[in-house]
Amino acid sequence: MSPLILKGVRPYGEGDPVDVLIRDGVIAQIGIVEEDAEVVDGNGAVLLPGFVDLHTHLREPGREDTETIATGSAAAALGGYTAVFAMANTDPVADNAVVVGHVARRGREVGLVDVHPVGAVTVGLEGVKLAELGTMAKAGVRVFSDDGHCVHDPLIMRRALEYSKALDVVVAQHAEEPRLTVGAQAHEGEQASRLGLQGWPAAAEESIVARDCLLALHAGARLHVCHVSTTGTADVLKWAKARGTQVSAEVTPHHLLLTDERLETYDPVNKVNPPLRTAQDVRKLREALAEGVIDCVATDHAPHAVQDKDCEWSAARPGMLGLQTALSIVVEAMVKTGLLDWRGVARVMSERPAEIAGLPDQGRPIEVGEPANLTLVDPDATWTVRGAQFASIAANTPFEGMELPGAVVATLLRGRVTAVGGRIPA
Ligand code: DOR
Ligand code: ZN
Repeated sequence: MSPLILKGVRPYGEGDPVDVLIRDGVIAQIGIVEEDAEVVDGNGAVLLPGFVDLHTHLREPGREDTETIATGSAAAALGGYTAVFAMANTDPVADNAVVVGHVARRGREVGLVDVHPVGAVTVGLEGVKLAELGTMAKAGVRVFSDDGHCVHDPLIMRRALEYSKALDVVVAQHAEEPRLTVGAQAHEGEQASRLGLQGWPAAAEESIVARDCLLALHAGARLHVCHVSTTGTADVLKWAKARGTQVSAEVTPHHLLLTDERLETYDPVNKVNPPLRTAQDVRKLREALAEGVIDCVATDHAPHAVQDKDCEWSAARPGMLGLQTALSIVVEAMVKTGLLDWRGVARVMSERPAEIAGLPDQGRPIEVGEPANLTLVDPDATWTVRGAQFASIAANTPFEGMELPGAVVATLLRGRVTAVGGRIPA
């Protein structure tokens, strides 16, 4: 691979623009660079470590009509990601070494982003029998989750945490007490009552997070909480962390920006699980992310076919695209509000997720000798969201037509350009 110069870039958005030389997949020089090499013009853009998404639905195997590992990887690269974790709720479920092996292999063949398969906690995501965590861990799985479903049985969750400690992996919980959300269609509150939609109470999330924090503390295990959506969950996390629980948590871009006021039109593009909450929750989630009570941003990128979204609210599947809008939503919700600077963006989009999943070569400092997994961001750009133009097969974005700030200029995976100027290089 020939050397590459990132010309006039600002690491973490700090200081004057510098040139960065990338050679043999690593950062070779920062500062004055005199080398004959291919050039990517930075024009003062912000250089960050490549983003890491702990929560992506790539839909392969099983629903290749909505996303494949190839199209999802392209969306990830265009969104500034250098690593993604592919959730296990595929068909067949990734609850064994064969399926996780297939996902990892396909990811390597496509080669646009490091695709790490998530293994299911229980067989078939049914919550009854533990999957073969050891066999999958041996195959390289570092994160286990029944996402889409909650591991609701406390004994199964306890055993999963105990095994995860022994295997040095992490269990990521989709926190939803299923007995409290039977038939639930929207955040339980005024808006749901007004619209006549059955409520999804905050307590269904908070009670599971509280329980699991206690179980993790008891087991001495690490717990990761998926898509935190309520004020109460942030409070529980703060309390659990203060007590020394090894718990980490993620928030989605949509929960940082959108509220249940969006449900007014009954457009199922806004249907997601956990549901969009209130403006007070949004404020609290932003604060918690800024403070580090919530560790990171994860997309919960959830592609769905037109027929599964363009139907009546109750029949529609929950979920929204996220990979190509995440950075801009974080800029809108966190940077423009002064809650995070670019160091902070690096922390929540790259460093913390890499640490949580134990990736040694992602989320690294921008320093000589470090792997060139990098994202270049134009902080001054604005663009209009057009779901149909995304690399994803599906187009279910709630941000359609919105003008958003900040754009990914280029993404580098081990020194190779995987996206530049909004395109995947040939
Ligand atoms: O909105 C969601 N969509 N939440 C989940 O937990 C699962 C996901 C999906 O797989 O579509
Ligand atoms: Zn989930």
